[in-house]
Amino acid sequence: MTPAAVPGLDTTRPHPARMYDYYLGGKDNFASDREAADEILGRFPETRVIARQNRAFMHRAAAAMAASGIRQFLDLGSGLPTADNLHQVVQRTAPGSRVVYVDNDPIVLVHGRALLADDATTRVITADLREPGEVWEQTERTGLLDLEQPIGLMMVAVLHFVPGDLADLMRAYLDRLAPGSHLALAHGTADGLDADRTRQADSTYQKTSSGLYLRGAREIETLFDGTRLLEPGVVPTWDWRPDPAEARPTLPGGTAFPGVLAGVGLIA
Ligand SMILES: C[S@@+](CC[C@H](N)C(=O)[O-])C[C@H]1O[C@@H](n2cnc3c(N)ncnc32)[C@H](O)[C@@H]1O
Repeated sequence: MTPAAVPGLDTTRPHPARMYDYYLGGKDNFASDREAADEILGRFPETRVIARQNRAFMHRAAAAMAASGIRQFLDLGSGLPTADNLHQVVQRTAPGSRVVYVDNDPIVLVHGRALLADDATTRVITADLREPGEVWEQTERTGLLDLEQPIGLMMVAVLHFVPGDLADLMRAYLDRLAPGSHLALAHGTADGLDADRTRQADSTYQKTSSGLYLRGAREIETLFDGTRLLEPGVVPTWDWRPDPAEARPTLPGGTAFPGVLAGVGLIA
């Protein structure tokens, strides 16, 4: 399908989904995305490592949830398909696990459909997570998730694209989840960045469809309110249950900036 044939797709304005795809080395991006992403990479050469480590956190968190018995997942701000995708990770532990992917970039749906065409256990929906009523309605319409059973809710590297106080939004998702559900959340932080660099990141992302709203560790921890944080708590992505076989990443320039903080909470 050509870009012009995708309803709602604006290729002239950079979009975070496609910028992230570019950081990860993917090919599903356009000139405007690459230009904005190159501006970020010029100012923050550590971005590629941070993006890969974020994705690796998502994999470890999903595998941990699958190992604890979760068999259905709702992935808000899922991003463009890229190896490995959530359903591939969890289906390695439990074949048949069901996944609903949600993203507000219409191109995610197009690529998702192409990738998942044969898979009756996954579905991609286009929706804005700031409208939880709409997200729940579309999710229920897929018929894939049973809200009476525990769900793995993924909010990985997405809430820093949403401005303002997120307490009500979090409640609108967490209050619908059955006991035993888990929340995996990762969020960009300005902790460790000086004001100048924070402004530089903000100014590039202001050109995108969403802007960037980095938050501090304390504020990110409050997003887990109503859950019991699992060990090791909210930490830099690479410190969340790291694979012992993997070396801790070194960031270009030796900076100690964590970039993204992450954790998993259990709903009792
Ligand atoms: C940085 S990517 C993260 C992808 C994936 N969760 C991961 O961590 O690998 C952020 C994704 O969130 C999506 N997104 C941003 N704002 C959103 C919103 N309001 N509703 C739904 N998706 C959104 C973007 O389109 C993008 O695909």
